[in-house]
Order: sequence, then C-alpha cells, then structure tokens
Amino acid sequence: MIVTIDGPAGAGKSSAARRLARRLGFRFLDTGAMYRAVTLAGHRAGVDWDQPEQLAAVAASLVLDLSDSHISMNGEDVTAAIRTLEITTLTKHAADNQAVRRLLTDQQRAFAAGRDVVTEGRDQATVVFPQAECKIFLTAGEEERAKRRFLDLQARGEEVDLAEVLRKQRLRDKGDTERAYGGLAKASDSIEFLTDGLSPEEVVDRLAEIVQGVQAHS
Ligand code: DC
Repeated sequence: MIVTIDGPAGAGKSSAARRLARRLGFRFLDTGAMYRAVTLAGHRAGVDWDQPEQLAAVAASLVLDLSDSHISMNGEDVTAAIRTLEITTLTKHAADNQAVRRLLTDQQRAFAAGRDVVTEGRDQATVVFPQAECKIFLTAGEEERAKRRFLDLQARGEEVDLAEVLRKQRLRDKGDTERAYGGLAKASDSIEFLTDGLSPEEVVDRLAEIVQGVQAHS
C-alpha cells in the first residue's frame, strides 16, 4: 500500500509522515530530503546554478540512501547538513530542474516497489504515485507554518527571525506552487487535512484513522 502525504512547507508533514509510517509498520520516504541532498552536493561541487545540466550531472553521480530518520549521500550522513537555511533556500534549483525531477521520481518509485510506504513531498499523489491507495494533502495556515519552521530552526541553533522565515516561506510557497513540473498541487482524489491547532499526536492519530478507513474499504 502507498500512502502519499503532500503539502506546503512547514505543515508538519515530515514528522507526521514519519510517525505515521512507524505506527503502521510502513517504510518512510522523505522526498524533500532527496531534493535537499542533491542541492547540498551541487553547492559543494560549486555548480553554476544557471546551468541546470551541471546540477543534473552531480545528481546522477549520487547514491542516496534513506532510512527512517537519516539520509546518506555517497555513504556520508547528511541528515543535519541538508536542513540549514542556506540549503533550504537553494533547494529551488534542484526542484526546478526537470532532469533532477525525473531522476528522483525514478528513485522514489524504485524505493516503493513491492513495499508498504508512507511517502511525503509535493508531487507524490499527482506525479510520482498517481495510483496510490491513500492520498493526503496536509496543510496549515501560513503563520502557523512559519512559526513551526522558526522554532525548528531555532532548536537547531540557527540565528533566525520570524518575519524573515515568513518572507522566505512565502517565496518558497510561490515557487513550489508555480513550478511547471511537479509543482505543489492537491490531487483531485486527495483528502485535505488542516492541522491548525492540533498537536503532533492528534495529527498522527487522525492520519492513522484515515489510512485504516481506506484499508478497511480495499
Ligand atoms: O519538504 P521540504 O521542505 O524538505 O522540501 C524541500 C524543497 O524540495 C521544497 O522547496 C520543495 C521541494 N520538493 C519538491 O519539489 N518535490 C518533492 N517531492 C519534495 C520536495
């Protein structure tokens, strides 16, 4: 069974999807981490961001390995390195790159082949797994999402300003929504779920109910 969880930045998708996967005994796939890892590799290689083929070549040379809570890139654990504000801002170059999207889409499908998976991203229900049995669009209000991202970055020891996080989030939302390929969109057969005011536990409880409801009917 494939469960897709798509939605905008800061809606709490990652932690909710990971916890849901644990609860169901499914594998968890964080596709945003893959776009971030490609970006980190491109940044380190000093690619010219205006030459998309350079980043595509870097992406093709990477071996990404995703486990429940860690991601490694050519054998190096980059779980923390991909989450800085700098890499977060640069990740649009990987997300806008069609060749990178094709490559990562193939890797995501290979990861899910023959397995029960909870996969999380922007295009999982629309592009990567249109046949998924359970599709969820997870979202929250703009201010609430910015506040969560702010607290998360602060907890990682970054110097951050809430207004700046909100400004960058708006830019990212715009880029994610307007992206020509694999942009953020709610699939017509997705269940929309607004997480405002809910604790992480409540979100996971509700998600588990939704999945169990789908399982019961299939
Ligand atoms: O979910 P996240 O913040 O880790 O995602 C990082 C960036 O990657 C985000 O700006 C959108 C992009 N992304 C994407 O284009 N497609 C996905 N399936 C997942 C993430």
